[in-house]
Amino acid sequence: MAVPGVRIWRNARLASMDAERPSLGLIDKGAIMADATGRILFAGLEADLPASAGAEVTDCEGRWITPGLIDCHTHLVFGGDRAHEFEMRLGGASYEEIARAGGGILSTVKATRAASADDLFASADRRLAMLMSEGVTSIEIKSGYGLRIDTELRQLAVARRLGQERPVTVRTTFLGAHALPPEFAGNADGYIDLVTGPDLMRRLADEKLADAVDVFCEGIGFSAEQSRLVFEAAKAAGLPVKIHAEQLSNLHGAALAASFGALSADHLEHLDEAGAQALAKAGTVAVLLPGAFYFIRETRVPPVDLLRAAGAAMAVATDCNPGSSPLTSLLLALNMACTLFRLTPEEALLGVTRHAAKALGLQAEAGMLRAGLWCDLAIWEIERPAELCYRMGFNPLWRRVWRGS
Ligand code: NIG
Ligand code: FE
Repeated sequence: MAVPGVRIWRNARLASMDAERPSLGLIDKGAIMADATGRILFAGLEADLPASAGAEVTDCEGRWITPGLIDCHTHLVFGGDRAHEFEMRLGGASYEEIARAGGGILSTVKATRAASADDLFASADRRLAMLMSEGVTSIEIKSGYGLRIDTELRQLAVARRLGQERPVTVRTTFLGAHALPPEFAGNADGYIDLVTGPDLMRRLADEKLADAVDVFCEGIGFSAEQSRLVFEAAKAAGLPVKIHAEQLSNLHGAALAASFGALSADHLEHLDEAGAQALAKAGTVAVLLPGAFYFIRETRVPPVDLLRAAGAAMAVATDCNPGSSPLTSLLLALNMACTLFRLTPEEALLGVTRHAAKALGLQAEAGMLRAGLWCDLAIWEIERPAELCYRMGFNPLWRRVWRGS
């Protein structure tokens, strides 16, 4: 009997990332079957594949299949670039000094406000294409370069449009509390009032403009107390939260976020032991961003040993943004996570699949090869999964599948 719309990938080696299997959930001689709606019907040994006459079959000729990769922290939509600041930093200025002198995030805010929605879409689309070409099938995109209600909403709308027009899952995050806009200079509390306004938060939730709310908790961002206000407002609107924390100093933002059941706490170079334990206890994912560490020449690495000892889930992302991480390669982020932060290839790979899904609240949909989840696949010309972390600047992707096609 013909089974319309069913697809099969056979003769493959699977790194299923399935939490119910040890390590990367490896399955030699594996196969995957997807239904017409783009969900996985079966992922396992080819010998156990259910009968399905009429299905469209792809012979993977022994190639490896992983879940489609997930970039769980990006600022993909922005105007302009910051190459001139790169030159300044090469001349000796620090990331923090440039920000305090009115450059940094605020220079991108100016360019983003001046850009039309179509311009923002076109430039973000090019960056998205780079990520997708390496097997990315889900991506998070933050606002935070508008810093006015109209321009923040424009960024979120562009991010949503990318998800509607391209074969990729987009999760949007409202990061209104990213920096203090010039209109509110000297009045951070006034700006926090605007960002936490109940009408805005409710609109973000009701109109499905944002899937989560983030805040940059830092000396050059917002205090822990201001971050708390943002979280309370998000919670009241029913939106989950995330945090940029402990990047340049330790304001204990990660523990604060954990106390709100945050999806993730990101950066974490200055995290302490209590913070690591708070993340593990709350099930908040620790998102490591080696591209930003590398690009702003941080010297302090995130305390991976403390996170491991506490049992916190670790994810890895590009943090693609014009200032601290102009990186459009999640594969290079994998390499950097291993070389710079000493993650094992296994930890890094779980960090762009299963744990990255959790950082977006998508653990029931993506990040593993398991029946019931979306059939998002990356099929690779490699001999072993660690090769994805080992190479630099080489893309071994053979095929990418999003929701079954
Ligand atoms: O994740 N840390 C704050 N936000 C970005 C940097 C943004 C920028 O410099 O434009 C980050 O590193
Ligand atoms: Fe970031």
